[in-house]
Amino acid sequence: MKYKNVIASRKGGQEVLQVVENDLRAPLARQARIKVLSAAVCRPDITARRGEALYSGTPLGQKMPFVPGYAVIGFVDAIGKEVSEVAVGDRVGALTVTGGYSEYIYRSSDRLIPVPATLDPAEAIPLILNYIVAYQALHRSARVKSGDKVLIIGASGGIGTAFLQLGRLANLTMYGIASRSKHPVLAEYGATPIDYKAQDFIEVIHQAEPDGLDAVFDGMMRLSYIKGGLSLLKRRGRMVSYGEPESLAALFRILGTCFMTNLLPNGKSFKLYGTSFYAFNKRPFLEDWAVLFRLLEEGKIKPVIAKRYPILEAAKANELLESGQITGNIVLLAPELL
Ligand SMILES: NC(=O)c1ccc[n+]([C@@H]2O[C@H](COP(=O)([O-])OP(=O)(O)OC[C@H]3O[C@@H](n4cnc5c(N)ncnc54)[C@H](OP(=O)(O)O)[C@@H]3O)[C@@H](O)[C@H]2O)c1
Repeated sequence: MKYKNVIASRKGGQEVLQVVENDLRAPLARQARIKVLSAAVCRPDITARRGEALYSGTPLGQKMPFVPGYAVIGFVDAIGKEVSEVAVGDRVGALTVTGGYSEYIYRSSDRLIPVPATLDPAEAIPLILNYIVAYQALHRSARVKSGDKVLIIGASGGIGTAFLQLGRLANLTMYGIASRSKHPVLAEYGATPIDYKAQDFIEVIHQAEPDGLDAVFDGMMRLSYIKGGLSLLKRRGRMVSYGEPESLAALFRILGTCFMTNLLPNGKSFKLYGTSFYAFNKRPFLEDWAVLFRLLEEGKIKPVIAKRYPILEAAKANELLESGQITGNIVLLAPELL
């Protein structure tokens, strides 16, 4: 039997994404074979494909060709002889980092997340990456509390809209930076929108919140935003940056700012957040995904899905994400779910 996936044949634009056919083999002893129902399309897929990811050009960089795709949900279709954690038919998710643009994937069975089968795979897939980033930045890195005043830099994207929904649930007063055409979604979740092309966000927030902000969440990872955000924090305010730096040099400059901020006796703190590839199948990730799945089940969150594509049309999905025109998430789905 055969299955198909989408490979990036070399560095480049979405034209390097090609559908290829593979043999469907039996899983290895400790592996599960997963029939993919939904897969995420996200910014890191693009930077890895373009060779613009942080470690590109270093021995840690993405080797070509590769199958992009940072997260999947599916059901276990076959298991190896030594697998005890999952059974055939179980609904599971995985933070794959690469490999998700595929009809089937093989994963070590101890690196799978239990996902309630009652959830719509299209609505659940943003929880595996975008919502866990927002949830952990809010509740583990910044430890927000009801009534906190926060700024979300990059509020209209996949992670930004997760911040808006989770921030509203946490009863935060929110300001969000996004381009003007996307302001309606910010307003829908109760955030005050700021247009980064026409307004000076520092001025706007100084006027609205003269006592300063409790937390700033930054998805852009640019020093100008980081320094501006830090200047807006009140004493004991927390800055959390979760974006991908443009280069190793940019990362070092940001790390320097982080170190200095945490050293200065002004009570402000600055943390960098990243999903840990190695720790994701442990607490607190499993606990936090369980909370997110429950919130989705209870209808308390509802990911904004801008567009759904069949898995093998990942190139079109990448083109749309790169165009910057969408608000929220793009998801890839098994054709039977479309
Ligand atoms: N830490 C982690 O573990 C982790 C995991 C996944 C992703 N990331 C990173 O998080 C960042 C956001 O990811 P995402 O998936 O949410 O991306 P996305 O869906 O592409 O959203 C990015 C948003 O940024 C907005 N934007 C672009 N330029 C801007 C500017 N100058 N000022 C403010 N907003 C601007 C864009 O919309 P408008 O400009 O039109 O408003 C877009 O909606 C990326 O850097 C990504 O690599 C980190």
